[in-house]
Amino acid sequence: MNYKPIDTSKTYLVTGAAGFIGYYLSRNLLEQGCKVIGIDNVNDYYDVHLKHTRLGQLEPFNKFIFIKTDISDKDRVMKIFDEYKPNVVVNLAAQAGVRYSIENPDIYIQSNIIGFYNILEACRYYPVDHILYASSSSVYGANKKVPFEETDFVDNPVSLYASTKKSNELMAHTYSHLYKVPATGLRFFTVYGPMGRPDMAYFGFTNKYFAGEPIKIFNNGDFANDLYRDFTFIDDIVEGIERLLCNPPEGEVQHIVYNIGNNSPEKLMTFIQTLEKTLSNSLGREVQFEKVFEALKPGDVPATYASTDLLQKAVGFKPKTSIKDGLQKFADWYVEYYKVK
Ligand SMILES: NC(=O)c1ccc[n+]([C@@H]2O[C@H](COP(=O)([O-])OP(=O)(O)OC[C@H]3O[C@@H](n4cnc5c(N)ncnc54)[C@H](O)[C@@H]3O)[C@@H](O)[C@H]2O)c1
Repeated sequence: MNYKPIDTSKTYLVTGAAGFIGYYLSRNLLEQGCKVIGIDNVNDYYDVHLKHTRLGQLEPFNKFIFIKTDISDKDRVMKIFDEYKPNVVVNLAAQAGVRYSIENPDIYIQSNIIGFYNILEACRYYPVDHILYASSSSVYGANKKVPFEETDFVDNPVSLYASTKKSNELMAHTYSHLYKVPATGLRFFTVYGPMGRPDMAYFGFTNKYFAGEPIKIFNNGDFANDLYRDFTFIDDIVEGIERLLCNPPEGEVQHIVYNIGNNSPEKLMTFIQTLEKTLSNSLGREVQFEKVFEALKPGDVPATYASTDLLQKAVGFKPKTSIKDGLQKFADWYVEYYKVK
């Protein structure tokens, strides 16, 4: 392991900068003195107010430039690259969500396929040191062999969202092969934390609780076959990305894909109980969700479990935050941000 730390003299372009992961990554880079060009279309897939809150925390940094635009607009993307000539690009802008892709396929093709293609084209015409892009654990589909390794067969996606992420990996590979664009794909595993995504289960459960509604758990009510998820705390994701930024793949094949997951899957029910406990701690009273069990939704997978050996070998890091510590940070933030009692 011989990795290069962040070069603060470089210009970093982060797409999806108003999003959950993009915001934290941008903030961390800015705090270290880097110049960050943030792009986001600030769409209303979830509460836009949260995106504006995140942007509001980035705007005071004088090395932050925010451009509200859609990455599916090729002319605009090219002009931004022409003007700012970024050294390192991190593409996090995408339509996220497995379930939403079942009903709304168009936007996945628009943002995840056309949008990513535009970013790759821009990297081709305005050469960069490195492009990193978000893939997803969902590419592993319903694979049974655990932990999931980067070399596993991933040609059986069970949602269009997963198909777009797997397609991104293929597209990046081609651009690295044909045009020598050094590219790194990041397979994130269920990322959570303060200021996270309201469409994700832990956030939705918390919203339901405070709205006085029961939570729906899609595990068939079958505790013996409970779902397992490799939940990864946001700070670990940011550290993993940051360690890779100035370490593009070298050698003949200039494309590589890493899992960034916790390497420690938790039962969904354990995660929910921990969320109840951490909310109880934040509020100083006992919290218990009213639970309704339902059948698994199409596109859902029974388990995710990341092997992190490759990442650890490359940059000497693997995610380490326990769900107890991570969820406590989420619960404290939620109670404070939404002023709930
Ligand atoms: N959070 C997770 O658990 C997780 C897991 C696996 C993969 N990912 C991937 O990581 C990336 C970041 O995820 P996140 O959790 O921060 O999601 P997010 O939805 O909070 O952030 C994505 C941001 O991209 C913006 N965006 C979407 N389409 C755009 C477009 N066409 N042009 C410009 N901006 C656009 C959105 O407004 C949003 O602010 C995504 O690619 C997602 O698919 C996330």
